[in-house]
Amino acid sequence: MCGIVGYTGNRPVLPILIGGLKKLEYRGYDSAGCAIVTGEGRMEVYKATGKVANLEDKTRECNNHGTLGIAHTRWATHGVPSVTNAHPHVSQSGNLAIVHNGIIENYATLCEQLKKRGYTFKSQTDTEVIVQLIEYIMTIRDCDLAAGVLSALKLCIGAYAIAVIDRRNPTRIVAARKSSPLAIGVGEGNGEFFIASDASPIAEYTKKIVYLNDEEVAIIEKGKELQVENIRTGSVDFEIKDIDLDLTMLDKGGFPHFMLKEIFDQPAVLKDCMRGRVIAADGGYRVILSAVEQHKQKLVNASRFTIVSCGTSWHAGLIGKQLIEHFCRIHTEVAYASEYRYNDIVVDPGEIVIAISQSGETADTLAAIEAARERGAMVFGIVNSVGSSIARRADTGTYVHIGQEIGVASTKAFTGQVTVLAMFALALGMERGSVDPAEYNEVLRELTLLPDKIERVLQQNDKIRDMARTFTYARNCLYLGRGWNYPVALEGALKLKEISYIHAEGYPAAEMKHGPIALIDQDMPVIFIAPHDRLYHKIISNMQEVISRKGRIFAIITENDHTIRKICSDVIEIPETPACLSPLLSVVPLQLLSYHVAVAKQLDVDQPRNLAKSVTVE
Ligand code: G6P
Repeated sequence: MCGIVGYTGNRPVLPILIGGLKKLEYRGYDSAGCAIVTGEGRMEVYKATGKVANLEDKTRECNNHGTLGIAHTRWATHGVPSVTNAHPHVSQSGNLAIVHNGIIENYATLCEQLKKRGYTFKSQTDTEVIVQLIEYIMTIRDCDLAAGVLSALKLCIGAYAIAVIDRRNPTRIVAARKSSPLAIGVGEGNGEFFIASDASPIAEYTKKIVYLNDEEVAIIEKGKELQVENIRTGSVDFEIKDIDLDLTMLDKGGFPHFMLKEIFDQPAVLKDCMRGRVIAADGGYRVILSAVEQHKQKLVNASRFTIVSCGTSWHAGLIGKQLIEHFCRIHTEVAYASEYRYNDIVVDPGEIVIAISQSGETADTLAAIEAARERGAMVFGIVNSVGSSIARRADTGTYVHIGQEIGVASTKAFTGQVTVLAMFALALGMERGSVDPAEYNEVLRELTLLPDKIERVLQQNDKIRDMARTFTYARNCLYLGRGWNYPVALEGALKLKEISYIHAEGYPAAEMKHGPIALIDQDMPVIFIAPHDRLYHKIISNMQEVISRKGRIFAIITENDHTIRKICSDVIEIPETPACLSPLLSVVPLQLLSYHVAVAKQLDVDQPRNLAKSVTVE
């Protein structure tokens, strides 16, 4: 969702901007643009709808050798995707240009006030209001850009990451953030600076990064020290951190799509996720999570857990609930962050809120943890992106460590999150004495075997690709699972919807008879997730209910299950594993299935329509 790139230094800025936008494409967008300023103070603005490649085509006519610029990929909120609504937006005088990520909630009021003072607006965006407001303040107060931005932001209600330039000062960018991510890359040596929505466009130039906090404004000037001010309290100290980004994660490594690469990366990245955490000890296994060690007292005595998250991370949370309740015997709720933040929530004394997020920037999850903190809950983050907003706002937590995920449809993040939740529940269960030591040891041993077992599932890729052909003609699909695999049914359906645009629903298999069964006919593929667990015989009965209504069934089964094979010929096998870990295997064929359906339908797998990787607006 909306990406920002900016640069000031001695290098030609255009390739840095275009290259940076390409690295942010994964976030999801519908138009793109850039503004470049030359040493003589000439500003050129280019915009295009669709892909960054379209913008790149337009900039081919550019002979501006500017070394200052800002660029943007827009994901429409206010106003349709169009060239006019694409960023950058330029102030009335033509001196200032802005790019913005977020939503200014009081833009209509500000817009009316500025119109009364003679300002006109070209676009339907809330962003144009900010740049006109900055210009208005600079004019009436006769102040510079930094002072104009600081004052303007005090009047803006909502969320923003912005970068603003003034063509009269061709070395300076003023950038700011509130509830939307923004990072500054500090060039090594020659006084250059990069800005971006995340570290990926910066990492190839510098390893030094500063993450802005809410309501902070950075005054970034070539050849000068970086200055950061809070809009209310003035100058603040900032910390320069090292970028923790594996650049090999940013290319496709020979795969046609990031999504397929990330599905196939799972065995390796789950090893990274468990490295140093699940260890062989005293002839058995142990799990050590530093956050659990450090906050043992509070966690052991937690009165209950509430998990807040969105999308795929919410599905991981549903498995997390079962893991925590099973191993720790602590009541656990799972809430959509977008609902939780506005609910009249009750936080019990001793309650701990677990926030799960791949990006660490999801606006609803961030707001949910703020709501929880205000009511006194401790927040435990399970986050993948190191240094992200949620990671920084949580009181403590565990990084997922599966490397950056680029494909919009989340895959390896889900298995990573479930792995962390399993480690968390086992570590805490052991501290509480609520887990059976033999089961603890067995589940940890099985966790170490999972990467190899996922490899075995991946070997069925060709078979799954063949199976996917049937789905390309489907208009609706049903995914059914029970117990540990009900969340996998939800996740399988979400994957299909996201990238294949086929309507799919995940349902608890037994609940089917209370409604969805009415939809079943020969045109409706029904996918059962039916590993050999304690609900196995129950789910076979659910299969029979579908078969007797002429439904076409597909099944994910445990290796050597001959019973289901007799009633269903389209099966994918997963190796045997303890039931609580079976989602880590059963989800993999469903990821591959949705991938192959999307490819067969010739759809844009990595950047599906209307979706964003990192949803930084509510
Ligand atoms: C978006 C993404 C999903 C993701 C969800 C939550 O909708 O497209 O893949 O699951 O946001 O994101 P988070 O980064 O908080 O896990």
